Amino acid sequence: MARLIYSAAVSLDGYLAGPGGDMSWLAEFAGAPNPAAERLLADVGALLVGRRTHDGDDPNRGTDAEGAFGGQYDGPAVVLTHRPPPTAPPGLTFATDLTSAVDAARAAAGERSVTILGADVASQCLAAGLLDEVFVLVVPVLLGDGTRLFPGRPGAAPVRLESIADDTPHWYRVVR
Ligand SMILES: NC(=O)c1ccc[n+]([C@@H]2O[C@H](COP(=O)([O-])OP(=O)(O)OC[C@H]3O[C@@H](n4cnc5c(N)ncnc54)[C@H](OP(=O)(O)O)[C@@H]3O)[C@@H](O)[C@H]2O)c1
Repeated sequence: MARLIYSAAVSLDGYLAGPGGDMSWLAEFAGAPNPAAERLLADVGALLVGRRTHDGDDPNRGTDAEGAFGGQYDGPAVVLTHRPPPTAPPGLTFATDLTSAVDAARAAAGERSVTILGADVASQCLAAGLLDEVFVLVVPVLLGDGTRLFPGRPGAAPVRLESIADDTPHWYRVVR
């Protein structure tokens, strides 16, 4: 079954987007060669995307690097939303609950993995015991406010993570 991998670039103080969904801070750091990120990309069979990410800011809008993975990914994507539009563009599926979204993304990914984009969706996958891995690229900037990599989980037990790659500091397996 396809692994679910939450992937994000994150500020050193733990935000994946600035206030109001601002992503402009990422532009100057995007595109640096990273063998682990290239390995992740090579294995992605489908994206599982939150609606706010789908509709959100893209620092590369209007360039060849627009879209997921700096414009290098062009496979299927499942967008999770309570407000699906009547029609979907080719390659895009809208799902209205977590289970059907995960099922659709896994089916689309086949033998490859599913990359999750969006903190809200990733946190729900974690809470549901569905999250397999976390891949984070830490960017040397302090945003101070915005969307946290993992929203708070008041009262939740700690989740342990095991490092699974030698060539990048923040690629982890979620210990269950
Ligand atoms: N730094 C990075 O690498 C990176 C990567 C990805 C995203 N981002 C940024 O992160 C921000 C988005 O993250 P986020 O955590 O705020 O939101 P998100 O996870 O992208 O999307 C949340 C939205 O998904 C829909 N949704 C979530 N759970 C659902 C469920 N169980 N059933 C139906 N619909 C559901 C809802 O949309 P509806 O309101 O339509 O129902 C909800 O508002 C954006 O600013 C984006 O640009 C940054």
